[in-house]
Amino acid sequence: MPDSLDTIAAEVRICLRCPLGKGRTHAVPGEGPANARIMFIGEGPGYHEDMQGRPFVGASGQYLEELLAGIRLRRRDVFIANVVKCRPPGNRDPEPVELTACRDYLDRQIALIQPEVIITLGRFSMQRYFPGQSITRIHGQPKRVGDVFYLPLFHPAAVLRNPEWRTQMLADFARIPQLLAELDAERAPKPSAPAQDEDDENYTQLSLF
Ligand code: SF4
Ligand code: URA
Repeated sequence: MPDSLDTIAAEVRICLRCPLGKGRTHAVPGEGPANARIMFIGEGPGYHEDMQGRPFVGASGQYLEELLAGIRLRRRDVFIANVVKCRPPGNRDPEPVELTACRDYLDRQIALIQPEVIITLGRFSMQRYFPGQSITRIHGQPKRVGDVFYLPLFHPAAVLRNPEWRTQMLADFARIPQLLAELDAERAPKPSAPAQDEDDENYTQLSLF
């Protein structure tokens, strides 16, 4: 059977590959459209995520939605996942063995979704693509590999704790539509764009899927 996002989510929900599986209320596989162009990768579920089985539903999630709205995107336009899918006790950092044990699930999700912009939130997802780098040094600076942009951003929770980073976070977020526009511009121009429906919320000029 070919792999699917549902298969992965089902495996994650019963996974005991690492010790985090024993402590969870709900695993948090991640969610969003299978054909999303944009994927956010956070760290791991917190209290609310563990309770609900959904990513970024607490304070960080609320802030993430606010940031998305600022670039005229909605939560349902993007795929949101984490590097570990079960909550580390007391929100401690994920351990290397946990990151390693969980790695394959996210790799499979990425392989299926094939996002064009992968946004890492915080240090632990950044390390997947920018090993050994410092977030304070490279945040907001995209790296292109083939047709995929990797954009390292601060973790929303870190910005909530350090309000002086908010302006920078807004500026970093503004890179996202720019990267999509850059990819769109490279594609063969279509002869004529279909007329926009007036009732269409007119949310974004960019095609998201
Ligand atoms: Fe499995 Fe990942 Fe949960 Fe560990 S964190 S039990 S590897 S799903
Ligand atoms: N922080 C994360 O890194 N992930 C979540 O899903 C929620 C908060």
